[in-house]
Amino acid sequence: DAGKGEYDHYMLKEIHNQPTSLSNTIEGRIEDGDVAFEDLAAGSFEDIETVQFVACGTSYHAAMYGAQLLRATGVRTEVLRASEYESMTGPVDEATLAVAVTQSGETADTLDAVREAADRGARTLAVTNVVGSTAAREADDAIYIRAGPEVGVAATKTFSSQAVTLALLTQRIAADVPSATPVEDRATMLEELQRLPEHVESVLETTDADDLARETLDSESYFFIGNGLSHSVALEGALKFKEITYEHAEGFAAGQLKHGPLALVTDETPVFSIYTGIGDEKTRTNAIEAQSRGAPIVAVGPDDHPLVEVADARLAVPDTHPVWAGLLANVQLQLLSYHAAKQLDRPIDKPRNLAKSVTVE
Ligand code: G6P
Repeated sequence: DAGKGEYDHYMLKEIHNQPTSLSNTIEGRIEDGDVAFEDLAAGSFEDIETVQFVACGTSYHAAMYGAQLLRATGVRTEVLRASEYESMTGPVDEATLAVAVTQSGETADTLDAVREAADRGARTLAVTNVVGSTAAREADDAIYIRAGPEVGVAATKTFSSQAVTLALLTQRIAADVPSATPVEDRATMLEELQRLPEHVESVLETTDADDLARETLDSESYFFIGNGLSHSVALEGALKFKEITYEHAEGFAAGQLKHGPLALVTDETPVFSIYTGIGDEKTRTNAIEAQSRGAPIVAVGPDDHPLVEVADARLAVPDTHPVWAGLLANVQLQLLSYHAAKQLDRPIDKPRNLAKSVTVE
């Protein structure tokens, strides 16, 4: 336990480690406005036509984040829950890159999926935190997220480092694939990425998550909604919340709220509404819809946004490029889950029934 230092839990320590872990993730990988990975020469993805991301749990949400950024460059992209790989995969051949996103590099479902992809002819790449892990050894190539060891069962800093590594990877792939169109404001996006550690620091210093967790504590259910990039953050926010508080939490694509979940909405169901500054209109309208049914709305994102004006409460993040805003919102949601679990006196670092790495199918 000495490893926890000044913190009550490893989870809080790992949340607070993110400015450092993210700096390590980024270091040396942005050169003259271009993305470079050690061991992967420029041009190494030029024969790739389809990219499949396979992952489980939190890593799946990071994979969703990366997949959306890659799709925006015009590269054919799939994101698959590893356990569903066999039944859900599209065609696979030598022009397919299967990317296993796995913190531990040991998740049985993910290893199985990537082996299946390799059997079908795909080239494979592991994006992992653990040097020498099974995924890293078995894949054709490996990229490390460099988050450092994570002890808390609920993944926090590794999600942030995975999402950033995948964002960088998508820019590398798009630069290599001849038919891809690099995103228009790539230079600004990469510049802002270098400021992400300081933005995370500012969230950690100014957060109201502790108070908000207390105010919303006796709710019946906790809903998290977002659109586009924020959808993956909503799913991750809900997963974290249920993992460590044991309260019922669900994440939805904002536009899906009215297709069923709205029936559950009452004044006992806070709706955490995540936005980035692009493609948020559906989040705003669906949040208002829930609010008119009595639900308190918490706006999670930067200032200067229409959602802020209608929200009942706020978890604010600094202004940044929309691609990174969701990752800052996610830090606020990590803190919200942590403080709610602490107030409920849960065993935060070791939630019941869960394991850090699941090595059985
Ligand atoms: C378990 C953990 C999750 C993790 C998932 C995938 O379910 O409890 O926190 O996201 O495995 O793990 P991986 O090591 O493959 O990222």
